[in-house]
Amino acid sequence: KRIAFLVSGRGSNFQAVLDAVAAGDIPGICVGLVTDNPEAYAIERAKNAGVPVMVVDYAGFPTKAAYEEALLVAMRGCRADLFVLAGYMRILGTGIVREFSGRMMNIHPALLPAFSGLHAQRQAIEYGVKVAGCTVHLVDEGMDTGPIVVQRCVPVLPDDDETRLADRILAEEHKALPLAVKLFCENRLEVDGRRVWVR
Ligand code: GRF
Repeated sequence: KRIAFLVSGRGSNFQAVLDAVAAGDIPGICVGLVTDNPEAYAIERAKNAGVPVMVVDYAGFPTKAAYEEALLVAMRGCRADLFVLAGYMRILGTGIVREFSGRMMNIHPALLPAFSGLHAQRQAIEYGVKVAGCTVHLVDEGMDTGPIVVQRCVPVLPDDDETRLADRILAEEHKALPLAVKLFCENRLEVDGRRVWVR
């Protein structure tokens, strides 16, 4: 399968998938990185791996609609079977979500449906939960609401701050996202309403 990525920043989850593909764990090829941020470190990672980069600089457009039009053109250009949102920090418009319905996934650093949106790890600490984690889900028109593909959990420890918890969750993200991409590429995901079965 052809796998493309939409990333806004550091790209460590993108790297985890690149590594799993390079290791032969995922039957796919990484065909493009699309980013809204010309400073994203993910760009270096893509270049190192020989993955084409398309920068659609959010700041370069007068309106969100104009930005999304350009983003959609870049995304279509990848001719991807799967689009992976790995730290894409904006909400996608319904046009894009509909076009890639069933073949776009997102990684979120919380056990959804708890703590959607920004600063999920801080929300978890402030709420006082004892277990936290990450979720890979298909993207629907809501924010962090689509059918869940993979979740992994970690303990919240007494002296945790946001950074320590985020680091512990991130280590699990780097397992969860390659697994979800692998299952997709192996045609092993079966979506049944809200529920995703692994065959
Ligand atoms: C991750 O915690 C991801 O769950 C969240 O943004 C962060 C991105 O990290 N959506 P990275 O860019 O993959 O290193």
